[in-house]
Amino acid sequence: MSFLGLPRVFGFAEVGERPALQPKCIWVTGLPGAGKTTLANALGQRLHKLGRLPCVLDGDLLRLGLCRDLGFSEADRIENIRRVAEVAKLMVDAGLTVMVALVSPFHAQRETARALFSDGEFIEVFVDTPLEVCEHRDPKGMYARARRGQLKDFTGINSRYEPPGHPEARVDTSVMSVEESVDRVLRCLT
Ligand SMILES: Nc1ncnc2c1ncn2[C@@H]1O[C@H](COP(=O)(O)OP(=O)(O)O)[C@@H](O)[C@H]1O
Ligand SMILES: [Mg+2]
Repeated sequence: MSFLGLPRVFGFAEVGERPALQPKCIWVTGLPGAGKTTLANALGQRLHKLGRLPCVLDGDLLRLGLCRDLGFSEADRIENIRRVAEVAKLMVDAGLTVMVALVSPFHAQRETARALFSDGEFIEVFVDTPLEVCEHRDPKGMYARARRGQLKDFTGINSRYEPPGHPEARVDTSVMSVEESVDRVLRCLT
């Protein structure tokens, strides 16, 4: 039965309520360029094949719409994380498995996000790619701009990133392939 007490209609009723198929919030945090979006999208594809209903909430895309009024000051970052967490909560309650790909640099706000969810429903994934690698990748040229002093409040250069203390999963995309990282996260879901 589904969370609404109705039979599931998406093809996985036969596997019942295995924990692996419960809705989750997979919160992917890390420096810009660490590989969050890549991991979240790859996870979404894999979860879809496993019969889940995945949805990716990507920080960059949300800043084009839901959060377009927010900048990168500390107060705005806090509000950004709060909004994304609230949306993720609504989606998980609707039965989806949500991947949040968001720098989300501050420990306190990630813990506030976690507190919205039931035990075991929130999976924090730390994309722990070294700063030097992220800066070398610099897919959007942001690190270079920050180093030139053209960008203030850029995480990793002139705005702090607080690493998770006890994430459910940690991946380093400088040494792990995308598929290895996906496998690592999936092990937390079973
Ligand atoms: N596991 C990986 N191995 C090698 N390169 C990766 C891996 N994951 C991401 N990348 C590369 O790193 C860059 C940044 O990835 P992206 O997912 O956009 O990072 P973020 O969303 O954290 O800013 C991209 O060029 C992407 O192709
Ligand atoms: Mg991204």
